[in-house]
Amino acid sequence: MARPKLVASLDIGSSKIRTVVGTVDENGVVNIIGVGIAPSTGLRKGAVIDVEETINSIAASLEDAERMSGEPINHVFLGISGNHIESINSKGVIAVGQASNEIIEEDVDRVLEAAQAVTIPSNRRILSTIPKTFTVDEQKGIKYPVGMTGIRLEVETHIITGFEPTIKNLEKCVLQAGVDIDDIIPGTIAPAKSVLSKRQKELGVVVVDIGCGGTSVSVFEDGSNVHTAMIPIGGENVTNDVAIGIKTSIDTAEKVKIEYGSTIPEDVNDRETIDLSLVSKLDTHLVSKKQVVEIIQARYQEILLLVKDELAKIHRDGMLPAGVVITGGGSKIPGLIDLAREILNLPAQVGFPQNYDGVVDKIDDPSYATAIGLIIGGSRVDNRISGGIRGINFKKGIGSVKGWFKNLLP
Ligand SMILES: Nc1ncnc2c1ncn2[C@@H]1O[C@H](COP(=O)(O)OP(=O)(O)OP(=O)(O)O)[C@@H](O)[C@H]1O
Ligand SMILES: [Mg+2]
Repeated sequence: MARPKLVASLDIGSSKIRTVVGTVDENGVVNIIGVGIAPSTGLRKGAVIDVEETINSIAASLEDAERMSGEPINHVFLGISGNHIESINSKGVIAVGQASNEIIEEDVDRVLEAAQAVTIPSNRRILSTIPKTFTVDEQKGIKYPVGMTGIRLEVETHIITGFEPTIKNLEKCVLQAGVDIDDIIPGTIAPAKSVLSKRQKELGVVVVDIGCGGTSVSVFEDGSNVHTAMIPIGGENVTNDVAIGIKTSIDTAEKVKIEYGSTIPEDVNDRETIDLSLVSKLDTHLVSKKQVVEIIQARYQEILLLVKDELAKIHRDGMLPAGVVITGGGSKIPGLIDLAREILNLPAQVGFPQNYDGVVDKIDDPSYATAIGLIIGGSRVDNRISGGIRGINFKKGIGSVKGWFKNLLP
């Protein structure tokens, strides 16, 4: 019997580096067999600030997952985050190549490459080219044109780019930690793979990943990823505000946020206090719980208002029938779903990773949405990972057309 295909992902977040390993069976079902986690100490908002520490963190996360799965990890789908990730919309047009005018996969590749010919500064790299919709001659709204007949093929795409020097440094650290890179996937598109159902994507939905350094926004309609954006505010801003507000260290503020935080000050009695000595050896003072919760609420309100602005940009404010799915570590704050429902005027829920099998308890957690999304996306990439083929290099610009392209299609 053929050995099942192994897929691994490495989600380099600004607080944690997560590795997930899974097998993919002949029906495409992903079975998670190992996870690893390490603090992300050498990075700041997705960019390497200390090479050695970054390599060590990546290696620790990989080793952790290798230990649990009993499988060596040779290559990974790499998820990167940070405010350097940007997106633009672009169109491409080509004449269909075949004499019979039948559209074949090569035509689709060519039209996507044509859409990539937009002027992108030389210090930015195209990470993903997402086809939103195709037009064959005058017929608009086509999801996948292969097999159709026509003379002129057009595509509307959403192109995601990242800052080349930041990506290069990360790539170097990953390679030095001992693994090759199957593909690099921006954090703005990975979590949706694990937290959304096909139906939600068809109906219209927004995924909001509240991480440490930032928040990503990804909107789906008619099955397609129509808009993505990075908001440069995340959980660490909430923690920083708490630290300033109650005059304590970042470490203590983080513990206070996680232990006592919420986004509903109305539920807290004015006289309720938090004894900082219970979470810190250095602090002894009492602080008002209501004050802490008000600080937290204000930052989350700001994040959600910025999400609302993103939806307004594409005229979808309050208009997505499947609502908002909030994921990432920042989604674990109590009260957030009510606040999101109120501010965004949409149905809201927390996005737990789904669409996989396996018995690893720890990943039933929204902060694993990206790492599992990377595995699920990676598992659908054909011919790239089978029985330990190593060293598939990411080619500038076209990697995602060939690699993740198929699973970016509606
Ligand atoms: N129970 C909780 N309540 C509130 N916030 C939490 C909780 N658990 C974790 N967080 C916050 O979630 C953030 C980390 O989330 P996550 O692990 O998704 O980030 P990351 O992937 O490392 O960062 P990024 O995606 O921004 O690069 C931190 O700011 C942390 O304070
Ligand atoms: Mg993240």
